[in-house]
Amino acid sequence: MDAAELGRSRFLNMLFKPSGMAMESRLRHLFMNPEKMLRGAGITPGQTVLEVGAGTGFFTIPAAKMLGDGGRLIAMEPLSDFADRITEKVRDEGLQNVEVLCRDALNSELEPASIDLALLFGVVPFPTLPLNRLLPEMHRVLKSDGRLAVWLFPVSAGVPTAILRSGYFVELGKTNGVYTYRCIVSEQ
Ligand SMILES: C[S@@+](CC[C@H](N)C(=O)[O-])C[C@H]1O[C@@H](n2cnc3c(N)ncnc32)[C@H](O)[C@@H]1O
Repeated sequence: MDAAELGRSRFLNMLFKPSGMAMESRLRHLFMNPEKMLRGAGITPGQTVLEVGAGTGFFTIPAAKMLGDGGRLIAMEPLSDFADRITEKVRDEGLQNVEVLCRDALNSELEPASIDLALLFGVVPFPTLPLNRLLPEMHRVLKSDGRLAVWLFPVSAGVPTAILRSGYFVELGKTNGVYTYRCIVSEQ
């Protein structure tokens, strides 16, 4: 059973309700500046951005505003209640550039080489997002000059090492707490 099927379970949606409330709490807004972190990711107007595990949309709304009307944000979230919450926020904000997909990012079904920037914000390490499956999928959907941006929660030294060892990405640096990577493109 993949994350998208699990995400439709009433039991799991109830189980994760408290973490959804924590994700959008006032306390979080006091301690975290999503715009600053998104700048660290290198988000720029007009890009097509994939947000993996968008939760209840803490980063989705500011990211969509930063992308502007010419940009597009694909917010991927398998838990149906979280996805519905993002849709509600997007509607309340009157944003036209967000597509909410209730889907497993390990099998994103997105077109190859269609994404400028993939955000892994607060989603790794996570048991249902193993890097050995997530990284090849991100590499597949990113354009050859695309970027992967990773904000680690909880902080885990193993993740940056695993990304470098994967052979899919090269690190560009770390800004505002966010690691950025470019794709390694194989010569044909
Ligand atoms: C810790 S939460 C972070 C949410 C959001 N990025 C934030 O920082 O507010 C991790 C999210 O990843 C989602 N997730 C778990 N497995 C996933 C998968 N295979 N594909 C996409 N999202 C997944 C979970 O449902 C959850 O909403």
